[in-house]
Amino acid sequence: MSTKRLNRAEAQVRVYRDAQEVALKAARHFARLADQYVVGSGRFTVALSGGSTPRAMFSLLAEAPFADTVPWEAIYFFWGDERCVPPDHADSNYRMAQETLLSRVPVPAENIFRIPAELPDPQAAAEAYAGTLLGFFARQASSSGTAPLAGVPRFDLVFLGMGPDGHTASLFPGTTALKVTDKIVVENYVEKFKAHRITLTAPTINNARNVTFVVAGTDKAEALREVLEGDYKPELYPSQLIHPEHGSLLWMADESAAAQLTQPHDVEK
Ligand code: 6PG
Repeated sequence: MSTKRLNRAEAQVRVYRDAQEVALKAARHFARLADQYVVGSGRFTVALSGGSTPRAMFSLLAEAPFADTVPWEAIYFFWGDERCVPPDHADSNYRMAQETLLSRVPVPAENIFRIPAELPDPQAAAEAYAGTLLGFFARQASSSGTAPLAGVPRFDLVFLGMGPDGHTASLFPGTTALKVTDKIVVENYVEKFKAHRITLTAPTINNARNVTFVVAGTDKAEALREVLEGDYKPELYPSQLIHPEHGSLLWMADESAAAQLTQPHDVEK
């Protein structure tokens, strides 16, 4: 697995007016990629994140024009991370996606692969999800050719958020999961929450065809500058670990999150 540092030139950064605009453009991005991959390969695989910007995007996707035009039956939903709670818990990323999007569009139940984070042993939950991913992507690989990294799922799209501390998925600063290169999913103890999370590892995210961060808010501005323009310090800013090897990296940010960037980026009004 790569230890290559983030090259700012590899990331495309698009800046929008506000969080609502980011959510709308992210919804369009999802819809466009879903069309493209369903036409090209008959299906679209996406890993979702938790967080506030995705929540707004999911709500938009559940409404016109997306609800009636996105090829929902051919989309397979996974998660980048999950809190160790039951699926009906208020903190569950699965519950958030279910309530805002999945229960409102015609996605077959068998296309939804949530992380079984309610299991009492977080490691067992991580291993169970790794098994689910390996089983699903092995079946896909046999019908659509070989993936670049053997044994690592290759999502068509991984959506990510970023916390003000630079974390992404549940890859938090200073945690053990940051160094894992031989597993596709791990449990990660996060001291500041005194709780475990389940998360895809950086090599899994980096094996995706498309990785898209959606970030909004002034509290993200310093971390966004450090991640994109600062020295490579992934122990402090884990989002720097994300640099897809054979895929595209897109950051969709609002003006307040992008306020401290000094290098050129695409401004979309
Ligand atoms: C989670 C996440 C996490 C999230 C960021 C940003 O479960 O909490 O998946 O990585 O994306 O914390 O969240 P906001 O968009 O709410 O700031």
